[in-house]
Amino acid sequence: MCTVVGYIGRGYSREFVMEGLSRLEYRGYDSAGFSCLHPDDNRLLYVKAEGKLHNLVTKLEDSPIDGFTGIGHTRWSTHGASSVKNAHPQFDCERTISIVHNGIIENHRELKVKLLESGHVFHSDTDTEIIAHLFEALYKTHKTFKGAILDLVGYLQGAYAFITILQDKPDVMLLVRKRSPLCVGIGDGEMYVASDMLAFAGKTNKVLFLPDESFALVHKDMIELYHFDGTPLPMNIQEVELTWDMYEKQGHDHYMLKEIYEQKGAIHDTVDFLSTVHDRVWDDMGVTEQSIAQLDSINLLGCGTSWHAAYIAKFFFETICMIPTRVHLASEFRHMPLFAQKNSFYLALSQSGETADTLEGMRLIKSMALPIIALTNVSSSTMVRESDGFILTQAGREIAVASTKSFSTQLTALYWLAHRIALEKKIITSKKMQQAEKELLVVAEVLENCIENYRMPIMQTYAKEYAQYKNMIFLGRHISYPFALEAALKLKEIAYIFATCYPAGELKHGPLALVDEGMMTFVFSHQDPLVYQKLVSNVQEIKARKGKVTAFAFEDQKQLLDIADVSFIIPHVNPLLGPLAMTGLMQFLFYAIAKELDRPIDKPRNLAKSVTVE
Ligand code: M6R
Repeated sequence: MCTVVGYIGRGYSREFVMEGLSRLEYRGYDSAGFSCLHPDDNRLLYVKAEGKLHNLVTKLEDSPIDGFTGIGHTRWSTHGASSVKNAHPQFDCERTISIVHNGIIENHRELKVKLLESGHVFHSDTDTEIIAHLFEALYKTHKTFKGAILDLVGYLQGAYAFITILQDKPDVMLLVRKRSPLCVGIGDGEMYVASDMLAFAGKTNKVLFLPDESFALVHKDMIELYHFDGTPLPMNIQEVELTWDMYEKQGHDHYMLKEIYEQKGAIHDTVDFLSTVHDRVWDDMGVTEQSIAQLDSINLLGCGTSWHAAYIAKFFFETICMIPTRVHLASEFRHMPLFAQKNSFYLALSQSGETADTLEGMRLIKSMALPIIALTNVSSSTMVRESDGFILTQAGREIAVASTKSFSTQLTALYWLAHRIALEKKIITSKKMQQAEKELLVVAEVLENCIENYRMPIMQTYAKEYAQYKNMIFLGRHISYPFALEAALKLKEIAYIFATCYPAGELKHGPLALVDEGMMTFVFSHQDPLVYQKLVSNVQEIKARKGKVTAFAFEDQKQLLDIADVSFIIPHVNPLLGPLAMTGLMQFLFYAIAKELDRPIDKPRNLAKSVTVE
């Protein structure tokens, strides 16, 4: 999504703002802008550029503006094409108010009509410009920031986090937040503002996360914080340990590759962490031992890769603790009837803990007084703050847009949780619980060994071959079907190769028509003999039509290995952990294909890491 960054203080702002934008560029990158107040006469200055951040860097070299108060933005377009006029900052009529915004103003059309009627002149197609003009009008009426903002937020519908600077008030920066994230790093006579604290990691460890529906007047050495109803809010400043060098590529060509390789360690860390919270896990999750003992249904929700992890986990919960489990796509959740069930909980999965669709689903669940738990990787996220309780993965920060280690650690945490619930319900013994933890550690080893077995020169040869294809079919059965969905998503997002995914049994009900000698089908195997045999039959149907097949198969699955054109071989593991064992190799192969095609792997076109709009 878009990124907003700001600085006010005793130093110049540009260096921090540009560095912050660059650190968070994974969030959005269609265009960028920087705006500041002239250090001598407070004139509002700005430079904007279309395209990636380095275009702005180049423009700023030619027009080296700077000031003690400055804001910046990278944009992921929602309203209006990617262009200089639509890049942020946006301004009021007089160009004395400058604003950068992340989010969507849903009622921007109605507001724009009214503002046009009262004589405001617009220069962009963005919803953000409406905020600048509306604030201009309201500030003229109220003459105080507080009065103007309180009125302003009454008009705005949607989600937003914006930062405003004003030519006439150089000593203050205005921050307003509803639904979209915004935080302030508190320095010594300086304040760093950003959508994500990664922007100021290493500069300060004191962070204020703006609460939902709040606004702040930020001075270089003081913050005034208010709720949207006008009441002052306490300053809940948190101490966080965060350094930027933890997030360098550390010799890898891409963050994605680094993160693929970090999976073994991240799975270990997640198992270690969960085994230490073993006794207090229900407290953390905001549930009671008794409610878990009585649990008779589970609801999971998430988007994208997190949804795929949830779908795989359905098999964990239904097999290990025998609890019927429903999986909801968070982006559809609000449009569906919500049947409140007794003895149930909702678990929202999100790497970032900021995904707007998932958050809105959680808010709906909460409004019905149903228990909502967040499973996330970011302890300081909005989801952790807004849920009844949480369970944390230990993937560490993920920078590449394509999720890798967050997926494998979500599977790890959910496999562990399924066992922990089974233990509470006395379905398994403590010994079995410990064995499950060991199984996860073994699979982490298998995951990494599989990557090592196909090191880069080998993988490159395969990648050259696959890079020729424009379309592919992906198939799985039982637990390998949601894994095939995740694999197809990975290929699409980083290599831009189209992949349609089906449960293998559905092939003959339609997609088989696509198969000929030019079609490649990926098949993800399963260790259950019945499921495996059915998969082999599906592969035979493809081969009979001269289609090409690549199999991710387990050792000794001779029939499949013989019939497939290409096979990637995985050692045997507990059948429920088959997808986790395949994860690293699948990601590594598709990374290699994307590299062969020279794609911008860490920042695929049109995508953003943190999707904070619905
Ligand atoms: O942060 P979240 O897990 O809530 O993100 C949800 C999806 O946007 C995300 O999983 C996305 O599908 C992946 N980055 C794709 O690799």
